[in-house]
Amino acid sequence: MSTTHHWWQSVVVYQIYPRSFQDSDGDGIGDLPGITSRLDYLAWLGVDAIWLSPIFPSPMADFGYDVADYTGIDPCFGTMDDFDQLLAAAHARGIKLLLDLVPNHTSDEHPWFRQSRNSRNNPYRDWYIWRDPAPTGGPPNNWLSHFGGPAWSFDAATGQYYLHLFDPRQPDLNWRNPAVRAAIYDVMRFWLRKGVDGFRIDVIWMLIKHPDLPDNPPDPDWTPARPPQQRLLRVYDQHQPEVHAVIRQLRAVADEFADRVLIGEIYKPVEDLVSYYGAELDEVHLPFNFNLVTLPAWSAAAVRDLVERYEALLPPGAWPNWVLGNHDQPRIASRLGQPLARLAQMLLLTLRGTPTLYYGDEIGMEDVPIPPERVVDPQGLRAPGHGRDPERTPMQWDRSPGAGFTHGEPWLPLAADAAVRNVELQRTDPHSMLTLTRHLLALRRASPALNIGRYRTVAVRETHVFAYLRSRGPEDLLVALNFGDTPCQLDLSHLAAQGSIAASTGMDRSGRVELAALALRPHEGLVVALHEG
Ligand code: NOJ
Ligand code: MG
Repeated sequence: MSTTHHWWQSVVVYQIYPRSFQDSDGDGIGDLPGITSRLDYLAWLGVDAIWLSPIFPSPMADFGYDVADYTGIDPCFGTMDDFDQLLAAAHARGIKLLLDLVPNHTSDEHPWFRQSRNSRNNPYRDWYIWRDPAPTGGPPNNWLSHFGGPAWSFDAATGQYYLHLFDPRQPDLNWRNPAVRAAIYDVMRFWLRKGVDGFRIDVIWMLIKHPDLPDNPPDPDWTPARPPQQRLLRVYDQHQPEVHAVIRQLRAVADEFADRVLIGEIYKPVEDLVSYYGAELDEVHLPFNFNLVTLPAWSAAAVRDLVERYEALLPPGAWPNWVLGNHDQPRIASRLGQPLARLAQMLLLTLRGTPTLYYGDEIGMEDVPIPPERVVDPQGLRAPGHGRDPERTPMQWDRSPGAGFTHGEPWLPLAADAAVRNVELQRTDPHSMLTLTRHLLALRRASPALNIGRYRTVAVRETHVFAYLRSRGPEDLLVALNFGDTPCQLDLSHLAAQGSIAASTGMDRSGRVELAALALRPHEGLVVALHEG
């Protein structure tokens, strides 16, 4: 059996939303020196890779996902020197650093787009997707922006529409143009040469659109409870067969450098998702698996079914990964409540595959209600009630007025519970979510079974329990998760007679257990090291 493992298989990735992690200069916006100052916290927590949402110069129409210069640092985050210091300080602690590559679109203030909109025969015209109006004078097709409204905006000066799958200030690049590809590949080389360990790649499955730009059909399952921009099926503006050739090129660029990783943002069911590993495992190393995030109902049966389908579909040699939250999704603690959020954390950190942790989830941060006058997310502004500001609020470090995040006025409101839910308090509380997370990370690192071992479902009669084994060599770890709100007792004596509790979601159990009568409290999860013989 192969014993070669890449670093990205055994790390946990911690996503930092830079605006909200740590402000160092009192402007209320998190910045790079702030992140550097918190690296010791991340090392203490047991995190060994960080991914930064975009830090590049940007008008911030989509808070950095509208890039105006791919090889600079936005002044609100600091300088290139600050970046170099952060990278060196992370590496000095054995922490890998991933950047966010946003190749699908630029800012409308990017020099490429300024050129492109200048005239129809500008050499940059074909770097973006321009079309004549429909015969009626309206947009070329019915496509909708993910943020609401049409995906086309009219440029009066040149009499054509340009495509933007997101905000009108985020024009889509034309990835059928080889010059665009070459330019982005050089952006990758710039950062890889500096020593960044890889990229999370924004909306990678949208890079290529159907060449004829046909109308998207209506989604028969759409209801008015869902945002209006979801009323069409996205058949022709994403997940096109030709995108795979582009991703292979992105991978080839990463492979010019030793030991780098590409993680692709792809919201797809596992059946489609696995195609992004590539037929020869030559596309992204990790197609982000968001299926725990998009699961319609959170139950033992649904999670087990998902894990089993994913495990069965993974191509030989492909490495799995799991995500519970990010800057685009309601926080896990708000979706499930605190007790189930602990159970979910145990699941995330014991499943087979690289986990990604969203900043603040380690202390159970919740969505923060944003008063209408403080909504800043372009999606929230266009589709009230569907915005992403609630999950992007400042990290809660301590009970001081700025929560240890800032001395100034934070760009988004602080949570009302910041004085009682913060790192300072949870650090010393042996039962806190933070202590649980840190314990699971340490366990995972120390245990080859958890880190790189096999996965096997353990059949149980209790419908509210999901149980599985993680194994490697002589080590067998049982994970038993009670999703239900009633206690239960399992007979798992066929696995072993006895075991020792290695972790419990309440951080309040230890010692030996008899597997013939393994008791689980409501919403309790256990990791049990099985004894041999
Ligand atoms: C996905 C990013 O995660 C999201 O925050 C952003 O708005 C869109 N892509 C557009 O870049
Ligand atoms: Mg600042």
